[in-house]
Amino acid sequence: MDRIRIRGGRRLSGRIAIGGAKNAALPLMAAAILTDGTLALENTPDLADIATLARLLETLGVRVEREGRVTRLTCASVASTEAPYDLVRKMRASVLVLGPLVARERVARVSLPGGCAIGARPVDLHLKGLEAMGARIELAEGYVEARAPDGLRGAEIVFPFVSVGATENLLMAATLARGTTVLKNAAREPEVEDLANCLVAMGARIEGIGSDHLVVHGTDRLAGATHPILPDRIETGTYAMAAAITGGDVELTGTRIGLLEATVASMREAGISVEPTAEGFRVSRSCLIHGTDVMTEPYPGFATDLQAQMMALLAVAEGASMITETIFENRFMHVPELRRMGANINLHGSSAMVRGVARLTGAPVMATDLRASVSLVIAGLAAAGETMVNRVYHLDRGYERLEAKLAACGADIERLKETA
Ligand code: EPZ
Repeated sequence: MDRIRIRGGRRLSGRIAIGGAKNAALPLMAAAILTDGTLALENTPDLADIATLARLLETLGVRVEREGRVTRLTCASVASTEAPYDLVRKMRASVLVLGPLVARERVARVSLPGGCAIGARPVDLHLKGLEAMGARIELAEGYVEARAPDGLRGAEIVFPFVSVGATENLLMAATLARGTTVLKNAAREPEVEDLANCLVAMGARIEGIGSDHLVVHGTDRLAGATHPILPDRIETGTYAMAAAITGGDVELTGTRIGLLEATVASMREAGISVEPTAEGFRVSRSCLIHGTDVMTEPYPGFATDLQAQMMALLAVAEGASMITETIFENRFMHVPELRRMGANINLHGSSAMVRGVARLTGAPVMATDLRASVSLVIAGLAAAGETMVNRVYHLDRGYERLEAKLAACGADIERLKETA
């Protein structure tokens, strides 16, 4: 398995281009099932998770053609309504094909995703929503079987708590349902908004886009469309923190501050300068990092997908910070590894008390999920000596050319290819 070696202590300076959002691209690709026309997605990132979903869609009968940054998906007819275990287990987001398949084919059999490194992550809200829309749901042999022989019908669905994936799945399903669907307490993440805008371009009728109250008037048919995928706010925030921890000065281009206001507010509170530019924004730091408290929340709150990276940054702050995770029950796997690098962090249930230290030290480390892994890269950039990050495949799921982007700004970072 490849590894990434970082020799810490270099200040980052330069520009980093941000790609299209992974977590927008995945539901957008699944939306191709809703039409026999061609959905052209511009600004598609080149990531392992995108390739995994493309493979799944191909088994369902979607033609996937990639040309540079544009991915064209055409589902002239659905060849299979089954998402097999072997593909779903690689990536939970595969469950996003469920709503579109039932909406178009009135039947779907999708492997239940298991728990994962960051928690149990059930899909009960996806299933209850489809049931409310008239689908019969059965669980057998590790699969969800959904049937709606007369087609889905509109329903009022009130989410007990915010779920990005359930909102996306039901939003897609509702576009082809008979009548009106109301989604209350819907997720407001920019990726949900991006999906809704694309569905509208395909002919869907959706009101309340960007709010937590979505009203979808079902229609018989959607058409193809061309849609630019929005910038990846998590990639943006990750590089912002990488620049900050090194006391650097980096312009992030192809992105916008407005996508991560809560993160920017926390970074400013920590003493980091964040200023908009014509092409994105610039992050720099010339004073010590101040300890600051952070709590993850659904959008527009501080993103859980940036919690680990913020913790790496605050590990070298002056003073203490309390970081509270409210979205996932087990999203602190980076803590023991950061501790091995000299961080002073104590866990109390869903909160981490981070007491800043003057300097981290390099170490061999590994993590079991994408954002935890990248937090170790951030820590390594500021640590004295060498950090070796193992299990790099996690990084490849969500960061395109990570080491090249950081090296271009002066980081001493290198991918060591596995030798057989
Ligand atoms: C999306 O996951 C993202 N993935 C995650 O990004 C992100 O961390 C998460 O939203 C929260 O922002 C994609 O967009 C592909 P949820 P999702 O449904 O949709 C519980 C990354 O690093 N829940 O909003 O799966 C769930 O267990 C990834 O890029 C239920 O209990 O998240 C969690 O505690 C990781 N029942 C909470 O809700 C359900 O039916 C929020 O999950 C659904 C969710």
